[in-house]
Amino acid sequence: KKQVPHDKSLDNTIDLLKEGYLFIRNRVDKYQSDIFETHLLGQKVICMTGEESAKIFYNPELFYRKDATPKRVQKTLFGVGAIQSMDGEAHIHRKNLFMSLMTPSYQNQLAKLMMDKLLDSIKVWENKEQIILFDEVNEILCRVVCQWAGVPLKESEVKERAEDFSLMVDSFGAVGPKHWKGRRARIRTEEWIKGIIEDVRSGNIKVEEDSALYAMTFYRDIDKNQLDSHMAGIELINVLRPVVAISTFIVFEALALHEYPQSKDKLLSGDKDKLKMFVQEVRRYYPFTPLLGARVKKDFIWNECEFKEGMLVLLDVYGINHDPRIWNNPDKFCPERFRERNDNLFDFIPQGGSNPAKGHRCPGEGITIEIMKASLDFLVNKIEYDVPNQNLSYSMAKIPTLPESKFIISNIRRKS
Ligand code: HEM
Repeated sequence: KKQVPHDKSLDNTIDLLKEGYLFIRNRVDKYQSDIFETHLLGQKVICMTGEESAKIFYNPELFYRKDATPKRVQKTLFGVGAIQSMDGEAHIHRKNLFMSLMTPSYQNQLAKLMMDKLLDSIKVWENKEQIILFDEVNEILCRVVCQWAGVPLKESEVKERAEDFSLMVDSFGAVGPKHWKGRRARIRTEEWIKGIIEDVRSGNIKVEEDSALYAMTFYRDIDKNQLDSHMAGIELINVLRPVVAISTFIVFEALALHEYPQSKDKLLSGDKDKLKMFVQEVRRYYPFTPLLGARVKKDFIWNECEFKEGMLVLLDVYGINHDPRIWNNPDKFCPERFRERNDNLFDFIPQGGSNPAKGHRCPGEGITIEIMKASLDFLVNKIEYDVPNQNLSYSMAKIPTLPESKFIISNIRRKS
């Protein structure tokens, strides 16, 4: 009988912090096994990679999400008790609300707003010696998503609000002072949005009925109750924060254009299919989501491994996006690979796997792709710029990661 490899060290928490995105992949290579057991944060954990593992992971008969995410991540990234840790009918009911805000028509509205605001920024950027792309795009996305969602945002508060959104994301893999920065950012943001929900309920703020703010404020859950204003705020933040987080992928787009100038030439026509292929390859190639966690619902055996009720199981998202059984030359950046490709629901999972309406897969992929396409078109076809000497390397140990310099560009001109 095949033995499931046990990673020998007493507790691998420190190694996870040191190896980051490559933690699971390194051990899968070492043990030549898609699945292994280890100890993390004082508990026995199963780690797994590969398409077949993704299929198992998204079987709701076998796994649940409540208590799968450490409290420290809920207190920074997700919000305590939000959709990410719900299960069953109540989850699907709330998921429908999110799905209804992510339709193609909303995707296009957001992409158009993004392009308009990027174009508006040119006149400011032209007069600056250089800009930090990440910081600029972060603020622009904050304006875009608040305007789209119906959330009032004063020009004087854009900078701080945008920074708070990115602190919540930036701190989720952190310990110590950075973790606390993320927690304070979440507390400030929750207070702000809760106040806005209350103003809508009391009629102090008028809001369009087809906006995300309206939808969250008046949503009734499976028991027909409105969410309290704090919870409604947390879920609205679950729409606002991830849109702002697309700035990470936009920086990776700029990095890819810089590192692979030959693929830039193919985008000069602005052809939508080519933009999309490039966007898909950025989402596959660069590290953003490292892994996902769920807990075992009832005892079962799979691949000769015993899954025990309540055990934490981690799925290797980064590794599956670089799995040589799924991708030829996975460590090569090659948008062309998406020309002929028919993805299934489990073999290309930068934002989770399976069907988003039925499980926890990200509902925001369409929005992410359209905003990334607009931003890519902008970088290639609307401006010219120089990339001065800087440290563009990104750490594979830091979760989430970003090029050190956050991508500085200089000498920005409108393309004629
Ligand atoms: C869930 C990644 C953008 C809203 C997720 C999950 C991942 C993910 C990995 C978890 C999947 C799972 O647990 O099985 C990303 C990345 C993004 C992004 C890398 C790029 C910036 C967005 C956008 C929105 C969004 C733009 C909304 C406008 C959500 C929500 C969930 C989620 C609400 C929770 C779904 C659930 O638990 O059912 N995302 N996402 N995300 N994402 Fe995204």
